[in-house]
Amino acid sequence: MDSSKTGAQAPDFDFVLFGATGDLARRKLLPALFDAHAAGALHPRGRILALGSQPLSHEAYLAMLDDEVLPALAGNAVAASWPSFVERIVYLQVDANAEPGFDALAELVNARAAPVVVYYLATAPHLFVRICEQLSRVGLTDQRSRIVLEKPLGHDLESSEEINSAVARFFAEDQIYRIDHYLGKESVQNLMAVRFGNVLFEPLWRREWVKEVQITIAEELGVERRGNFYDGIGALRDMVQNHLLQLLCMVAMEPPTSLSEDAIRDEKLKILKALKPIQPEAVAEKVVRGQYCRGAAGGDPVPGYVSEPGIPADSRTETFVAIKAEIANWRWAGVPFYLRTGKRMQSRVAEIVIHFHDVPCALFERPLGTPAGNRLVITLQPEESIRLYFLTKQPGDTQALVPASLDLQRPGTGTRVRRMGAYERLLLDVIRGRLGLFVRRDEQVQAWRWVAPILKTWQTTNTPPKLYTAGTWGPAASSALLSRDGMAWHEEM
Ligand code: BG6
Repeated sequence: MDSSKTGAQAPDFDFVLFGATGDLARRKLLPALFDAHAAGALHPRGRILALGSQPLSHEAYLAMLDDEVLPALAGNAVAASWPSFVERIVYLQVDANAEPGFDALAELVNARAAPVVVYYLATAPHLFVRICEQLSRVGLTDQRSRIVLEKPLGHDLESSEEINSAVARFFAEDQIYRIDHYLGKESVQNLMAVRFGNVLFEPLWRREWVKEVQITIAEELGVERRGNFYDGIGALRDMVQNHLLQLLCMVAMEPPTSLSEDAIRDEKLKILKALKPIQPEAVAEKVVRGQYCRGAAGGDPVPGYVSEPGIPADSRTETFVAIKAEIANWRWAGVPFYLRTGKRMQSRVAEIVIHFHDVPCALFERPLGTPAGNRLVITLQPEESIRLYFLTKQPGDTQALVPASLDLQRPGTGTRVRRMGAYERLLLDVIRGRLGLFVRRDEQVQAWRWVAPILKTWQTTNTPPKLYTAGTWGPAASSALLSRDGMAWHEEM
């Protein structure tokens, strides 16, 4: 067995970070590497080679991290661990379109023979192929190398396949880690454990007992500093094609035959293939496209999307999508899966709600406003939890029911276990060579295939987004999407 895949501490590595001055690196990747470092999970010799196109000295880059990364880190370990963390970092100016930077990179990587070299492409996708060509030219695409590709990979099915094929010229599929950080979240892992580690849920996990499933990723933030990037993308490509569909797969997949990487990915692929295509004539009915306008966030006024920096005043890019999806297989036929994501929504919440059918006849008095049927709510954000809602008898001389819930996430082990962030877990998985939580090429292709007719229909009909006020739950049409079926979004229940 490959020794780099086992053991608590990751093997020695070089982590080559393209886009090291960018937003993702500063907000997510470097903090995640820091957390792994502070927890002692990184090999002591492991290095972070931070590459950016800016002509910064190594010292200026570290000063930037002191100003922009350090203050956002939380916890007691920070002061003690930060100096040793930055010792791992080497900044190198590399322009993806020029050769000299890659020659210097090769010299740096070859100066020692780390058993694992990770290339993380936190750059615009149009640079991916160019970077791979350059890595190959300087001899850095050997067996010990792994490449991490950020989403969205491409703009549509064709462009993503172009990139996948080009990358495949230099890296084998088991060297390619297509990251979807939602798969690294603890509750998503726990969803699998709760489903497949107990006999209780599995018999109920099907069309006979489940009335509907809702998956929401709502953000309170707007586009922030990413306007230029986001405007060409929109919520369908940014969130639905990847995060929401991956969560849907985790809910809907059949029990895998093992926990091996491909056993899980095979099952997810089957679900993606079983998703009913949304035909162009059904797009207006089953998909809601929205864009936020002026409103409030956290009690403060905030501008509309088209007034954000970098956004053209006539932009029609969507910042909100709600979809009624269906899975055409024996387990799920007829059960609606409502998917929803948006920026500048009322609050930050990411959750999966499995809504079971109501009892066939109600014997007990139910308090007004109590949602019918049991619900299993898997919350990914702001706090992670898995909660089962049911009704129980109100104590005393009454037959009335009261709502109660069970928290399934924190078994009382008595020991305090450190929670890992999604990026931290996934970056450690790359270094250890564990592919299970990364998206295989065929999954990605299938996800693009499913969103393609929606994108195409919006384009051909030139559908404008429905406006919603910042700080709300999205356009009214989103509530109507469910109320037509006699349902309501979880927060409206
Ligand atoms: C990213 C999207 O993949 O996920 C962003 O590109 C979004 O637009 C982010 O803000 C949300 O991630 P999280 O973990 O903060 O919910």
